[in-house]
Amino acid sequence: MTQDENRLKAAAAESAAALVTDGMLVGLGSGTTAALAVNALGRRVREGLRIVGIPTSENTAAQARALGIPLCSLTEISQIDMAIDGADEVEEGSLHLIKGHGGALLREKIVANASKRLVIVVDESKLVRHLAQKFPVPAEVIPFGWQATARQLSDLGAKPSLRRNADGEPFISDGGHYILDCAFSPTVSAASLARELDHIVGLVEHGLFIGFTSEVHIASAGGLRVLRSQMTSV
Ligand code: A5P
Repeated sequence: MTQDENRLKAAAAESAAALVTDGMLVGLGSGTTAALAVNALGRRVREGLRIVGIPTSENTAAQARALGIPLCSLTEISQIDMAIDGADEVEEGSLHLIKGHGGALLREKIVANASKRLVIVVDESKLVRHLAQKFPVPAEVIPFGWQATARQLSDLGAKPSLRRNADGEPFISDGGHYILDCAFSPTVSAASLARELDHIVGLVEHGLFIGFTSEVHIASAGGLRVLRSQMTSV
């Protein structure tokens, strides 16, 4: 990450972290931008802010613990006040997302779904006109028979590629699943693609986040702006 990119991500992260108030249950996202928001929250906790975090990955849980942010899990609570997370792509207009490049999409979507307000933090490079035109859609799949699941994805027009670690072994998510990165030819409607993916046998969850976003904090060289969804109420 260049210094400029880091500065932009930090600006978006600080802007979202400033929305958090005393007593909130806060979903803690994953990825480099969300990590900067977790850092900002850790600083505010040291200054006296009282919150409880619900982490979306083991990495984020370790980071939050090291920062002294109290944590709990979804077994203990039913609704989260606000979640702050990053994104790989944000569709202008709809604010639908692609997430999961960091491999945490399943827990991220569970936390987003349990949150009253989902605040997305990005630099402006993440804004796109249409989702999935340049970035693959990650699909988290059960390892058993993953090739059969990949064939179903191919039948939908995807070019699925098994995500691997640097050593060539398959990447394993926190949930113990594989990830297929699915390149699609340009699609008009991410929402209809998401509905089709919802029905693939063997697919646990996909990285299309349709209708979850409340607002997006976007940092650019020109400053920070916030896009708010017309679909969700805050
Ligand atoms: C993690 O699984 C992802 O959904 C991240 O939120 C997303 O990849 C954005 O990450 P960066 O902030 O590192 O670009």
